[in-house]
Amino acid sequence: MAEDEPNGGAPGTQDGPYTGPRAADYVPEPDHSDDPGYVTRTRFLSNVAIAGGGVLTAAILVPVVGFAVTTPLKPEEFRWVDIGPASDYLKNPPPYTNPAPSTKIGEVASLAVSGPSSDADRRIYVVYGLKNPSARPQPSPGEDTKVYEAKFAKWASGLTAADFDLLAIWNRCAHLGCPVAYSPGSAGYVCPCHGGAYDSRGLVTGGPPPRPLDRVDIKIVDSSKSFTPEQVEAGKDRVPPAVAAKSSNPNLRVLVGKPYSIDEAQQPFALHDPGMPVSGTLSHLYPFT
Ligand code: FES
Repeated sequence: MAEDEPNGGAPGTQDGPYTGPRAADYVPEPDHSDDPGYVTRTRFLSNVAIAGGGVLTAAILVPVVGFAVTTPLKPEEFRWVDIGPASDYLKNPPPYTNPAPSTKIGEVASLAVSGPSSDADRRIYVVYGLKNPSARPQPSPGEDTKVYEAKFAKWASGLTAADFDLLAIWNRCAHLGCPVAYSPGSAGYVCPCHGGAYDSRGLVTGGPPPRPLDRVDIKIVDSSKSFTPEQVEAGKDRVPPAVAAKSSNPNLRVLVGKPYSIDEAQQPFALHDPGMPVSGTLSHLYPFT
């Protein structure tokens, strides 16, 4: 019987009665399962893990997304770059009687440009040539050389400096961007990547390019004169190539500036990426063409 046992039957020690917790003393933990505001330790640790993961993900994604979004929005900045005296480029003096290709090519080491797609390999060809190269008389089949030369000389004698203009042609192929090179043999540009071909003014003569070579704004200025930004903006500082070609002014300099695209009619458009047509039906279907 319990009352017959020492310590009422509870386990004890040799030194005295048991004083520890008894089953009758147990008080159950309150149940918070229905309380949405109660945060258990498990839930707290889960929230900490989720928050930490979110912070790490944001630390990786924010710079990447920010770069991807803001880079295209950031406009390129161009400045006028002096590429040398005008006399270096205006080397096709009257009376233009040489039947050889009349286009002069000057290669500039690099086009100074800053912006998201700045490219150290940007190069331009400076062309002082006929505005309408196709107007050059061609020898007829079987035509006597002297007869042709006389015909050419007569045509050339009617030319003036106003029949020539100064162009800066970017060497970036309009197909996929490979650097084109001037070919004296064809008096045009050829692309080593997929056989794109252009004439001396950068108009497409063969291959896959969807538009002509891009151009770069070019002007001749008298460096001894100063102009306000408004006058420069209005083009008042520009000396026409036809005037510069007949001038001996040593202060005339050639400057190149902002690139732009053109269509086959040589109408200017905002600069397009390689592969993009600038006008016509295909320009509306891009990039599905
Ligand atoms: S990149 Fe020039 S033809 Fe393709």
